[in-house]
Amino acid sequence: MADIVLGIESSCDDTSAAVIRDGYLLSNVIASQDVHRAYGGVVPELASRAHELNIVPVVSEALSRAGVKAGDLTAIAFTRGPGLLGSLLVGTSFAKAMGLALDIPIVEVNHLQGHLLASFIRQEGVPVREPSFPYLCLLVSGGNSQIVRVDSPLEFTILGQTIDDAVGEAFDKCAKILGLGYPGGPVIDRLAKQGDPERFSFAKPRVPGLDYSFSGIKTSLLYFVRDRLEEDPDFLEKNREDICAGFQKALTDILLTKLIRAARETGIREVAIGGGVSANSGLRERMLAEGQKRRWNVYLPELKFTTDNAAMIAIAGYHHFLAGERTSLDVAPVSRMADF
Ligand code: KG4
Repeated sequence: MADIVLGIESSCDDTSAAVIRDGYLLSNVIASQDVHRAYGGVVPELASRAHELNIVPVVSEALSRAGVKAGDLTAIAFTRGPGLLGSLLVGTSFAKAMGLALDIPIVEVNHLQGHLLASFIRQEGVPVREPSFPYLCLLVSGGNSQIVRVDSPLEFTILGQTIDDAVGEAFDKCAKILGLGYPGGPVIDRLAKQGDPERFSFAKPRVPGLDYSFSGIKTSLLYFVRDRLEEDPDFLEKNREDICAGFQKALTDILLTKLIRAARETGIREVAIGGGVSANSGLRERMLAEGQKRRWNVYLPELKFTTDNAAMIAIAGYHHFLAGERTSLDVAPVSRMADF
């Protein structure tokens, strides 16, 4: 009999539900919350309220698009953390109630594992191309910047991570400094395509080992803009594209330098990326270029699987389910998770 898993994701500001059958995606519905735009960032209280409104219609739509009835489900996978507690509570409570009502198991998923396993979401009509184990995954989002060694769908080792800001925060703060709105990553990506990445350069951090730091480069941009504006009040308007291109190149250089070192030190040539920042076109191009140069097999998730989505939660939960993991109904969400 087929294993049909419903995935539920509500860790931040996207309410999402997905259905997979034996690892193949049948539906993936995402309700994004526009309410935060006016505040220049996610407002936790508003996020939980919006999840509460969205969760029932989103799950119903995911089941209907998949052509699956609730009674056909084998298990429910849900994001337990990390994320905003009020947001996580909505998805977790919903999964518990639905699991109890249908008398089927629930399986908790670490949101980050979802990003790390996004390459394993199979789709009908799309050729299967998945990393073999072990592989390295560059996990880059608004909350994380890590190099993770993945030995199986259940075994993860962090080889390096940021000691301060995440790279997504650096993108978002850069956009704020340049007056470009929120979230900044996609805007910088778009403007960077029209700019010259070599015109302006930014100081790179010196951090030992495979760890990252992104707070210094943000400050370097802040002082750079402040000094130039003193000389020319129109500096930003005249140079926005080139600044974005230079800043994006600097962030990409920082990310790749450590990833290349990790690949060299481990001898692993299977290399993937995941997380919101993995949508960045400059980073994706650079990954492919380095892959070709260094004979890596590079795995880039489809753009729709880079941002928060329940398909990745469903696939991660499916593997935990196959391994026999079940979560007790007295589970509570957690805003932080120490490790994988
Ligand atoms: O994984 P994600 O959707 O959410 C969490 O961090 O939980 O990542 C969001 C981050 C934001 O910082 C956003 O600016 C960044 O991903 N991002 C991008 C791009 N698209 C989203 N950064 C650079 N280039 C993009 N195209």
